[in-house]
Amino acid sequence: MRIIKASDYNELSRKAANVIASQVTMNPDCVLGLATGSTPLGTYKELIERYEKGDLDFSRIKSVNLDEYRGLTKESDQSYYYFMHNNLFKHINIDPENTNVPDGTQPDSQKECTRYEGIIHSLGGIDLQLLGLGHNGHIGFNEPDQAFAPVTHCVDLAQSTIDANKRFFASADEVPRQAYTMGIGTIMKASRILLVVSGEDKAQILRDVLFGPITPQVPASVLQLHKDVIVVADKAAASKF
Ligand code: GLP
Repeated sequence: MRIIKASDYNELSRKAANVIASQVTMNPDCVLGLATGSTPLGTYKELIERYEKGDLDFSRIKSVNLDEYRGLTKESDQSYYYFMHNNLFKHINIDPENTNVPDGTQPDSQKECTRYEGIIHSLGGIDLQLLGLGHNGHIGFNEPDQAFAPVTHCVDLAQSTIDANKRFFASADEVPRQAYTMGIGTIMKASRILLVVSGEDKAQILRDVLFGPITPQVPASVLQLHKDVIVVADKAAASKF
């Protein structure tokens, strides 16, 4: 595991963008696993700027997103599809046909999970997976649990996640109670993982993730077992180690 400490959020975003940019440059038809949340926003802005300068070409890149709220349509401004479209896809030359986000509207959740896991498999797996970190150690929407989930599945969101994400909705009642997420097994099969963490409020959980016991109660702690993880944390998030 490589840990890069950045002085602030802007430097974190540039360093994370460097990792993704080198992946895209070295392997222009690779599969990128992408994430939502506020932490990757600066990274996406950096990538857009580099694309606009002519330094990056996404025309042959394929993408798979980590997760999606169950019940939200692509048009809902809180869906992760909408987030990805607005914060990245519409600003770069990725082919929309090559982008994948779980379908929140599919009524048969098992069918959707099987379909999504099948897409990742048919693309040959994920070359580089970008991850943010939840305050309870979740990655994607893999909440603290008794076991690590092997594949894409439908989860009941933890109350702490609903509380953390309600800032994006008109009220807490509007936050969906369920979501689709890649499993921990799906994520761990990615060839390389890039974890981005910002802010003092993540300092304790980041320390637990990187140096604490490996346990499904802290889902991201499993990353200690992955052979190629890069962690980019700002000074505040890295202040406890
Ligand atoms: C959501 C997403 C996660 C993300 C987390 C942290 O719950 N499902 O993938 O990592 O939020 O988000 P933020 O970066 O806004 O703290």
